[in-house]
Amino acid sequence: MTVYFSETTDFYKGNTPDMLLSKYGSPLFIYSEEIFRNRCREMTGMVPYEKFQVTYSIKANSNLTLLKIAHEEGLHADAMSPGEIYVLEKAGFSPEEIFYISNNVSDEEMLFAIERGIAVSVDSLSQLEKFGKLNPGGDVSVRFNPGLGAGHHKKVVTAGKETKFGINLDKADQVKEILKKHKLKLVGINQHIGSLFMDGENYLQGVRSVLETASQFKDLEFVDFGGGFGIPYRKQEGQQRLELESFGNEFAKILNEWTDSYGSKILFRSEPGRYISAESCILLGTVHVRKSNYDRLYIGTDLGFNTLIRPAMYDSHHDIEVYRQGKLVKEEAGETVDIVGNICETGDIMAHERLMPIINEGDILGVMDAGAYGYSMSSNYNNRLRPAEVLIRTDGSVNLIRRRDTLEDLLKNF
Ligand SMILES: Cc1ncc(COP(=O)(O)O)c(C=O)c1O
Repeated sequence: MTVYFSETTDFYKGNTPDMLLSKYGSPLFIYSEEIFRNRCREMTGMVPYEKFQVTYSIKANSNLTLLKIAHEEGLHADAMSPGEIYVLEKAGFSPEEIFYISNNVSDEEMLFAIERGIAVSVDSLSQLEKFGKLNPGGDVSVRFNPGLGAGHHKKVVTAGKETKFGINLDKADQVKEILKKHKLKLVGINQHIGSLFMDGENYLQGVRSVLETASQFKDLEFVDFGGGFGIPYRKQEGQQRLELESFGNEFAKILNEWTDSYGSKILFRSEPGRYISAESCILLGTVHVRKSNYDRLYIGTDLGFNTLIRPAMYDSHHDIEVYRQGKLVKEEAGETVDIVGNICETGDIMAHERLMPIINEGDILGVMDAGAYGYSMSSNYNNRLRPAEVLIRTDGSVNLIRRRDTLEDLLKNF
């Protein structure tokens, strides 16, 4: 039996895809406030340890309204650039609630965070030197690479032997020398092993390994274990969720054992991005063409990879629902199709050889779980306009939370 996410979650709350598209235009990112808030709460309640802070990784989705909701839910945030810091400030996050995870940055970028009193993490010896020169006597955090990575695609494995991130654990002595030279205080240690795990064992392995390193440093204020918490992208086939309860209990056990030997109940953090925002969004688009080229049947839509690049970039799977005259089409098996967009590239494929119900021109498609690395990685490629974003509130009312690009926007930097 196919699972229809929009139906099981009452995603649209009485609004219909055709009503939403006729009001806001196609394609369109639709968010559910209820699901977004629930995911924030699941993360904040995950680890039964008294000082556990969830730091939302806003690279996944930095819509201002969603950031304000995350802030209301008590999340802090990490930033990867001055732009992300700027947006977080506008959303109401204070400097103490922002963690700047820098990677290969200029003096100006580092100063941007330092001058605002925002905690900075550096991830190479050279950048630690730079930080020491710019901010002697300051507080700093170091991103270590535990030598073990994880992720759904090699492009998102961010620790281990084949990635640019972090300082190898065996360089801890060199870190200490630089700290001493510039009278820096190492207040935190952080890591991020990669994105999208569905079984927490690798993450917990990374936790154990970074804590071993942390034991060598006295007076730490926090250890941050990074994000990567996966979501089931194949719900239609019955894929199960990450089991958070036993994971959180095991996590807390490791933390409590470690703090007992370290001698202080320091702060621990994780940095989920995808888990917070992915499932709160359905990307809607319209079918304009049915055509066959040789042996393939193509469904041509306005869902180009400028709207959601994950399938083209990482071969990612997103479940897709079909809507006709305001209703979900539930016909089980139909035909095998390639669902493609309107970008001038053969790689512009949203779903490859997917068994779908029969899809007609004029139907609306809903791409599930589009809330993480969706709008935030969207672009104006082919001079296409980025879609609008709307939020379905818990009471069913709908707010426009980012307008669609206009043609004038394409020229605004000239
Ligand atoms: C340093 C860091 N923290 C957190 C994240 C968030 O990862 P995810 O969205 O998989 O939770 C990323 C993503 O790559 C990252 O690079």
